[in-house]
Amino acid sequence: MPVRKPSFSYAEERPYWLKGEPSLTHLLHALSAAFPDGERMFVESVAHYRKEIRDPALRKEIARFLAQEESHAKAHEEFNAWIASHGFDMAALDASVKARIALGKKVPPIGRLAVTCALEHFTAIMAEQLLTEPELIADFDPNMARLWLWHAVEETEHKAVAFDVYQTVSGNYPRRVFVMALVTFRFMTHVAWMKRHLMKTDPNAGGLLSNLRGAWTMWGKPGWFRRLVPAYLDYFRRDFHPWDRDPSEALARARERLGYDREGADAARAEEAA
Ligand SMILES: [Fe+2]
Ligand SMILES: [Fe+2]
Repeated sequence: MPVRKPSFSYAEERPYWLKGEPSLTHLLHALSAAFPDGERMFVESVAHYRKEIRDPALRKEIARFLAQEESHAKAHEEFNAWIASHGFDMAALDASVKARIALGKKVPPIGRLAVTCALEHFTAIMAEQLLTEPELIADFDPNMARLWLWHAVEETEHKAVAFDVYQTVSGNYPRRVFVMALVTFRFMTHVAWMKRHLMKTDPNAGGLLSNLRGAWTMWGKPGWFRRLVPAYLDYFRRDFHPWDRDPSEALARARERLGYDREGADAARAEEAA
């Protein structure tokens, strides 16, 4: 699980970089709006339990999880600034994310860790889809594909870390699934609100027709969200573990495409030597 520091340039990219379709592009803009503060919330919730973890392997994974999420937060901050440079109202989205996270601070630490586990399951299954469905990533403009693939690679690499911490410090099953049900409702309605806000305040978004085409792509055919449902439901199994789904081959292909193979091997060697 190496910590990479890639840099991205969006100078050449179209404002509607996903299939040229405003509704699909704004859907991912809405997700990206949630990332910087969301991922820092993940970092805090896992870091809180760091000292209670005795297993040296898990401690090492926690350190890398924290570093990876911090670099995602930074990269998406830059990306969100690029989105806003087109006049899209990312400031309103950012304010709504901050308000939700402030509210979440009232939840006890173990509840916040359960929220992180739930949201990490969302990122893990979406990442798996991005890694395993070449026709999905083919619709992204090239530099956008690099950003989202990099994020998908690292989300997959660290997908079990928050979960393993939760299982170690609590393992409470009813809380885990209750929190997932709650998070699903809150997260999906929030992302839908953010996307709707971007569509409403964008005079070039194409309104109803683009929304219908976008909804059909996500829920009809090819139905990217619809096809995530079985993987999502996995989380409700009592004996669920994130690595029950193992997209290692697709992960290796994506690392190779991004030129990370060598870097990963070098990091592993450096670690062995240390
Ligand atoms: Fe992340
Ligand atoms: Fe993550």
